[in-house]
Amino acid sequence: MGDSSQTFCLREASRDEATPEDEALSSANRKVVNGQWVGGCNAKTSDSVEARTLLHRAMRHERDAAITAPDRMFAGALIEVLDAPDLRLPDFPETAQKLDRQLATLEPNYGQVMHTIEADPTLVGSIWKIARSARFPKPPNSLSMAVSRVGLVEIWRISVQMALEAIRIPPGQFKDQADGIRHHGVLVGDVTAALVRERQGPQFLAGLLHDVGSLVILEAAARTQPTQEMVERVISQHHCAFGVLVAKAWRMDPSVGPAIAFHHDPLVFGTGSMDLPRLVGIADIAVSGALDHLRGRESFPEVAIQQMSLGQMEPTRPMVLAERTIERLQREGMDVVGTAV
Ligand SMILES: [Fe+2]
Ligand SMILES: [Fe+2]
Repeated sequence: MGDSSQTFCLREASRDEATPEDEALSSANRKVVNGQWVGGCNAKTSDSVEARTLLHRAMRHERDAAITAPDRMFAGALIEVLDAPDLRLPDFPETAQKLDRQLATLEPNYGQVMHTIEADPTLVGSIWKIARSARFPKPPNSLSMAVSRVGLVEIWRISVQMALEAIRIPPGQFKDQADGIRHHGVLVGDVTAALVRERQGPQFLAGLLHDVGSLVILEAAARTQPTQEMVERVISQHHCAFGVLVAKAWRMDPSVGPAIAFHHDPLVFGTGSMDLPRLVGIADIAVSGALDHLRGRESFPEVAIQQMSLGQMEPTRPMVLAERTIERLQREGMDVVGTAV
């Protein structure tokens, strides 16, 4: 921590400014409060076998302690998800896997890459949407021009983001919450990758997927309609462990599981001041703090970033990266401020 007296002043000042509305906001939509990062996960493990065992125990306890029938069904639905092979998840998108292989070579074969893109109508639609957005002065006149405008790395990212879309949740409050978490993942992925100046790779994936466990939980919630209080508790305590199981099911790079597992508690991982769990945590704080700012709330994210980075990172940098990412995605038409958590 650089200047502890400044930290203290910021916290004291902000405490005075907290409004009743601020206090009422749940942990689901407030991440940084008065320079402190709110949140944490119960299971401190990136081992998928251990994560599954701990989640099983926790969900059985939730089921036995549930007061309402929907809450009991919700815990039961999560136990069924844990018992199913690969959590009953859809496969990781084939297009993303193909592009990953094709772009990994030094000189990608453009014809092959175009063939992969053209075979995926959803991806083509997303590319057109961005190429026609306010980011560019006028619309492109061919798919090839749209692809070169958007760029292959960006297209790889969009194809990977489709993994989050593939977890289908029926319309309603839980889908709205899930959409916010998807947008949040895109923002945190972008900032995590930018922190290490790596546009394509496990850093982006780790940021994108860091809260993916919440989507698994919300999918079960949408089927059983439990109380919001129970959903929020299960998310805040167990989204990391569910996320570890998703990373395993989707056969992610070995660095992604620990980043998901420890993004709230990088001290538990503790390999260094700039390890991936810590970078994801920093990006998470920066994104939440920048959105708070745009929504007219001051949460003092710089203080939380200093703590998360063990004083090794100048907090301005992640904040600037988060603001830039938010601006860019807004220009591409994403309702970042309205939906992202
Ligand atoms: Fe999280
Ligand atoms: Fe997050």
